[in-house]
Amino acid sequence: MSRLTSKTLTRAAQRLSEPLSNPRKPKRIKEPLIFTQSKLVAKNRLYRNALSERFGHFDPKDVTSSGIPTKAFQNVYEKWIAGGYGLISTGAIIVDEDTIRHEGNMVVREGHDCEERRKGFEALAELARNGDTLLVAQLAALHDQKVYFIDSENDNFSSSRYASRYLQDRGFHGVHVQVTEVPPGPAGPGKAVDMIHGHGEAIRNSLDHSVPFIVGFKLNTAYMQQLGLKFDQILDLIAAAQKSGTYDFVEIAGGSYELPVMGAEARENMFRRVVHRAKQACKNTAVYVSGGMRTVAIMEDLIDTVTLDGVGVGRPACDEFDFGTKILSGHCHSALINPYEDDMDTATLAAMAQIKRASLRSLKESGGDVNDGLLNFQDPRVQEKFAQAKTEYMLKAAAFAMAKDPQMLVEI
Ligand SMILES: Cc1cc2nc3c(=O)[nH]c(=O)nc-3n(C[C@H](O)[C@H](O)[C@H](O)COP(=O)(O)O)c2cc1C
Repeated sequence: MSRLTSKTLTRAAQRLSEPLSNPRKPKRIKEPLIFTQSKLVAKNRLYRNALSERFGHFDPKDVTSSGIPTKAFQNVYEKWIAGGYGLISTGAIIVDEDTIRHEGNMVVREGHDCEERRKGFEALAELARNGDTLLVAQLAALHDQKVYFIDSENDNFSSSRYASRYLQDRGFHGVHVQVTEVPPGPAGPGKAVDMIHGHGEAIRNSLDHSVPFIVGFKLNTAYMQQLGLKFDQILDLIAAAQKSGTYDFVEIAGGSYELPVMGAEARENMFRRVVHRAKQACKNTAVYVSGGMRTVAIMEDLIDTVTLDGVGVGRPACDEFDFGTKILSGHCHSALINPYEDDMDTATLAAMAQIKRASLRSLKESGGDVNDGLLNFQDPRVQEKFAQAKTEYMLKAAAFAMAKDPQMLVEI
């Protein structure tokens, strides 16, 4: 067995502030969550948020062969599904020509269907159903939102409508979209609220209403701040999740809750303020928060005291795919320490390396170990090799904008 396997990792790696006595027990996070529109039920409040997979085949000149959910995708999701989370999202799915910056992720585009793609998505949905986990797809619907702002009277959101119905027919539990655009000017925030209403409605109208289906959206407070939105205007966008009557959840991201990034006070403060007020703006629709959730104590506070409905985790679920089970069972009270916590770019590459490694073998081939092959980034020797791999990867990625296979990050 290599020194980098999970069994070594469990022995050697350190967790964040593990209380020695009287640790906070997981309680509210273990409760089921009923989504108000679809009535689907997540078995607990833990959400493995959207993480781009990046290892899929991608050829911009041949969309039909690109982004097919192959066995490698199934290997990854099989392991996360075994990891205990109530709700899991795919990485951003490419649905139009504006979203090819997510190259290596899955693709659902009209006119590019094939049997292999259908079977691939169906296999993912089946894994989720067998694992009693809700699986939603994140649609990278940038183009749909842009088009809406140019001509809101037109027949809109065509890519989202196609992809939502396609994924519902494949057996997915739902979709969610990121709010990425707010038009400039004083009328911009109001138009963004209208867009959120329109997007949810268009997706709902595309669906088979006899099959329950989750619809959500993700809002990044930092992006909204960059686009010039103020606190109240961001809350208006969150309130739209409930007012529109079409959404099951809104996910708030944009900061690092427990380990705020130094030097980014304005961003972190906005994130915290929005998180603390979100439920007042959105009482009857589920609100998840993502970004720097690392300990059971904070997760419990956010659900119990701040009255949020659930907590999203990304990077901790890449360092150990069963972070969910460990937290929910009360065996662990916090995430592993990640040396790149304050450096999102490196942390993202490190997480991509973990995802790629998990994709190499099925759960069975991994001997039932969901963490098989994952790296221990706390090991200085791993850090050193990873730094070299990262440099080479960045050079290659800069030279060949379309050749960002994370394979380079994992051969270390
Ligand atoms: C490797 C990686 C890929 C990501 N891909 C996406 C994505 O496709 N869509 C998205 O909305 N957010 C994406 N994110 C952001 C996460 O969903 C999440 O909001 C962020 O990592 C904060 O949560 P965390 O602190 O628990 O990691 C990604 C993050 C990482 C680390």
